[in-house]
Amino acid sequence: MFICLKDAVKRYGEGEAAVYALDHADLVIGKGKICVILGPSGSGKSTMLNMLGGLDTLDAGELTIEGRSLIGLTPKERTLYRKEEVGFVFQFYNLIPDLTVEENIEVVSDISESPLDLSEV
Ligand SMILES: Nc1ncnc2c1ncn2[C@@H]1O[C@H](COP(=O)(O)OP(=O)(O)O)[C@@H](O)[C@H]1O
Ligand SMILES: [Mg+2]
Repeated sequence: MFICLKDAVKRYGEGEAAVYALDHADLVIGKGKICVILGPSGSGKSTMLNMLGGLDTLDAGELTIEGRSLIGLTPKERTLYRKEEVGFVFQFYNLIPDLTVEENIEVVSDISESPLDLSEV
């Protein structure tokens, strides 16, 4: 399977304030599949996507992408995974507000190995 999340646990907070955003969650997605994750607000969708996108780490469980485990990657390896292997569209875009649209695109072209043509984009 392309994406495989198994027995995933993510807890925010401690003790009485602890919230289990992922409470032994499983997810399997085949290569090339388009998948919609539906659920009420607060059900853990963003938390799960943050794990798949290498933005955050699990407290327990397994996560593999195309057979490769994301568990135990160093911060640098996770940065490279985000840079080279995964695309992530944020709910609130996360553009840099002091930059123009063009400059926001250029930020990415500066760090990409094969940037798209700025004027075309
Ligand atoms: N950074 C955080 N600190 C504390 N609690 C959080 C944090 N992020 C999410 N949560 C909690 O985890 C649960 C799942 O949130 P989230 O993954 O954002 O759900 P969804 O995207 O489905 O709305 C919610 O109860 C939310 O309040
Ligand atoms: Mg969300």
